[in-house]
Amino acid sequence: MEKIISLSKRRGIIFPSSDIYGGFGSSYDFGPLGVEIKRNIKEAWWRDMVQMHSSVVGLDAAILMSPKIWEASGHLSVGFADELVECKECHKRFRLSELKEEECPECKGRLTEPKQFNLMMKTFIGSLEDESAISYLRAETCQGIYVNFKNVLDSMRLKLPFGIAQIGKSFRNEITTKNFIFRMREFEQMEMQFFCDPKDADKWFDYWKEERLKWYENLGLNMDNLKIYEVPEGDRAHYAKRQIDVMYNFPFGWQEIEGIHNRGDWDLSRHSKYSGVDLSYTDPETKEKYTPYIIETSVGVERSLLAFLCDAYQEIEGGRTTTTESTKEIETVLKFHPKLAPVKIAVLPLLKNKPELIKKSEEVFNMLSKEFICQYDEAGAIGRRYRRQDEIGTPYCITIDFDSLEKNDVTVRDRDTMEQERIQISELVEYFKEKIKD
Ligand code: GAP
Repeated sequence: MEKIISLSKRRGIIFPSSDIYGGFGSSYDFGPLGVEIKRNIKEAWWRDMVQMHSSVVGLDAAILMSPKIWEASGHLSVGFADELVECKECHKRFRLSELKEEECPECKGRLTEPKQFNLMMKTFIGSLEDESAISYLRAETCQGIYVNFKNVLDSMRLKLPFGIAQIGKSFRNEITTKNFIFRMREFEQMEMQFFCDPKDADKWFDYWKEERLKWYENLGLNMDNLKIYEVPEGDRAHYAKRQIDVMYNFPFGWQEIEGIHNRGDWDLSRHSKYSGVDLSYTDPETKEKYTPYIIETSVGVERSLLAFLCDAYQEIEGGRTTTTESTKEIETVLKFHPKLAPVKIAVLPLLKNKPELIKKSEEVFNMLSKEFICQYDEAGAIGRRYRRQDEIGTPYCITIDFDSLEKNDVTVRDRDTMEQERIQISELVEYFKEKIKD
């Protein structure tokens, strides 16, 4: 983990927030490369969950919402209003009243001091700072979806079953935070809520579980590092009738990266009750009336990024490039799936003091950067430049040499096989489109 954290800072992926002030309680900033990886993860999720499912539509609800929503959802009462202690090792929280011993019942780790703890981040709306002005930063994006169920249903002429997907920031005043970006107080979630007939809920649960597992596999995650944990009754979230945690084998152990939940009719019936608006559904054909069940898939952008980053990280002992051959250093390669790689193509003129090579390289860069995130690098020996790109996971490097000027072609080097092939400049866009697609 130390090596991954250090690489992330050194190569502009992730910085501690407020770094020049000594950092700020488990907040992180995503640097020029980190922001690209995040964008790629979100795009891959949106494509698979929304674009490729005619029954799923998108939404972007506000972070600040009526505080009544959090009463209805149970976040202000049922969920987190007890005195809690948290295990410093496994981070499981326990209600003090339910503890029989002074150590963690799960892993025997040490426990924090008890706290009357609510995870919701409080703020004040308007000029007064009294009870009436209290609002909350959302603790999960899905509540914005539930309260828009009727708006979306009516405006989009949808029929059940259908889903609403959203990507956005969530905030939780976590008691303990550690393990880099694994558990933060401000993070992004990608959540999809699928509204269905209660009779079909089990079927849709299985369907979305498979879809989500395919997503990780298609993005190149080593499936030996992924497993499913069926959460037993009693340990589930307060809203869940069934819950599976998708677990990833991090350097610090197996931890949840995604939750898939059958939330039953908890959310819509609670919001019906608290808002006074009927959120039941009448089937247009059978005229049957019911409160839809919700199947939820919920994953953190940063947490899945950390899994992809750990999975991609490889150290190779000397010999991959000219530089390492001579020094026998350890070379770091991030073997990201090309879709996730922050830079897809590096454009490298062979020599920097040859204006004709620079001009040709700039032409190639300008052509490719319309389609792909590219990086232009003319500084240093070519082996060293390859190595810099390997370290940030760039799948393809292009070298422009003197032959390129005559033949209008370039050398393309593959990060993983290190094979090189000559490709005509006019064919490069199609060549990379083919390579970078699924
Ligand atoms: N709407 C359901 C829900 O929010 P959750 O299990 O509390 O369920 C879902 O959160 C996912 O959100 C987690 O699997 C994780 O990926 C991400 N997540 C939750 N809390 C987080 C935190 N403090 N820091 C980073 N990611 C977090």
